[in-house]
Amino acid sequence: MLTREENELMSRTDKGTPMGEFCRRFWTPVLLSEELPEPDCAPVQTKIYGEELVAFRTTSGKVGLLKEFCPHRHASLFYGRNEEEGLRCAYHGWKFDTEGQCVDMMSEPAESNFANKVTTTAYPTQEGAGFIWAYMGPPELQPPMPELEYLHVPENQRQTNKVFYESNFVQVIEGEIDTVHASILHSRLDSLENSGSAATLAGRYSFRDRAARFHVEDTDGGILIGANRNAEEDSYYWRISRWLFPWVTMIPREPKGPCRSGLIVPVDDENCWFFLVRWDPYKPLEGPYNEAPRDGMVPGTWLGMANKTNHYLIDREAQRTESFSGIPNSMGRAQDAAMTDSMGAIVDRTEEHLGTTDAAIIRMRRRLIQGARDLQEGIEPYAASHPEVFKVRSGGALLPRNIHFTDDADVLADITVK
Ligand code: FES
Ligand SMILES: [Fe+2]
Repeated sequence: MLTREENELMSRTDKGTPMGEFCRRFWTPVLLSEELPEPDCAPVQTKIYGEELVAFRTTSGKVGLLKEFCPHRHASLFYGRNEEEGLRCAYHGWKFDTEGQCVDMMSEPAESNFANKVTTTAYPTQEGAGFIWAYMGPPELQPPMPELEYLHVPENQRQTNKVFYESNFVQVIEGEIDTVHASILHSRLDSLENSGSAATLAGRYSFRDRAARFHVEDTDGGILIGANRNAEEDSYYWRISRWLFPWVTMIPREPKGPCRSGLIVPVDDENCWFFLVRWDPYKPLEGPYNEAPRDGMVPGTWLGMANKTNHYLIDREAQRTESFSGIPNSMGRAQDAAMTDSMGAIVDRTEEHLGTTDAAIIRMRRRLIQGARDLQEGIEPYAASHPEVFKVRSGGALLPRNIHFTDDADVLADITVK
């Protein structure tokens, strides 16, 4: 449970808010690179931390990210003409480069130097792992990029995607580090019957014991979460996940298997982007990427076809006979979205009743709130300026009951990037 004041502080990220300033200290994914497929292509709109933005790719391939509204009289630069290293407002033709400098003003006399004096908000960008990242904090504090493993693997070892969620970013983060719900919300009613023949640790052991015990440890980058369940007589199945500042989650995986991470970035206080990345540290990814496939989206948007307006296509008959939710596990990650969106845009955390499996959520909130409060006191976030704290993975293991997951050398090697 949080106080109303803590809940407000944690949830709101507009410019000038404590959490908004905290998040802006970190490089933030703002778009998929494929949304700006080629030089001088059409600009795209997006919204991050409550700021309406327009992105464009210049003639030389660089990505510009500007405040959406033209500084002249605020027409949207989304309607602008992307031409010769700049974006030209369609209204009176003021043209801006990627630094936000006005470089041409066809509506002013040729001898005027007014253009030199006009700038608009522009954020530095870089591309990595199929995402366009932006830094929206104070320029003098711009940190290096986090050393996330997937930024450095070959292209055939990673895949990216994004989904629009209709709720505040923190409740979506909470859903990702709440590793207990996978064996309920996302499971079929017959999972337990089939678990004996399952080929994965998760398939074999997630369903027999749904009351996992949580062990949460602070790290410089965030928190490390180990949840163990009874496996065989003498062993536990450990599901190991992470949350990293300020909105990175890594869900459990099979030992040495492919990894999956969510970067859950505020659109504004009541919506968020779920940037997804899946990667294999060791070899090319196999099979189709079937999480949030594009044909499950409302055309022209990143919102799942199963959404609030149709109760996430819940099928009550399927709920009686097949799965806990009766909601399709696709079309914009509908099962998760139904749970987190249905809490309300910003969940009222003064009214909740947390159980033992919420230990990681409690710790994540505490670290996030502390980070924002520290920054208010002038203490800069350690993780932002120490990119090496992001050299980590999630994990999974079957261990003898007397071995704690952080005491096993193989586990440690598997959840750390060399
Ligand atoms: S509003 Fe953009 S140039 Fe006038
Ligand atoms: Fe989920």
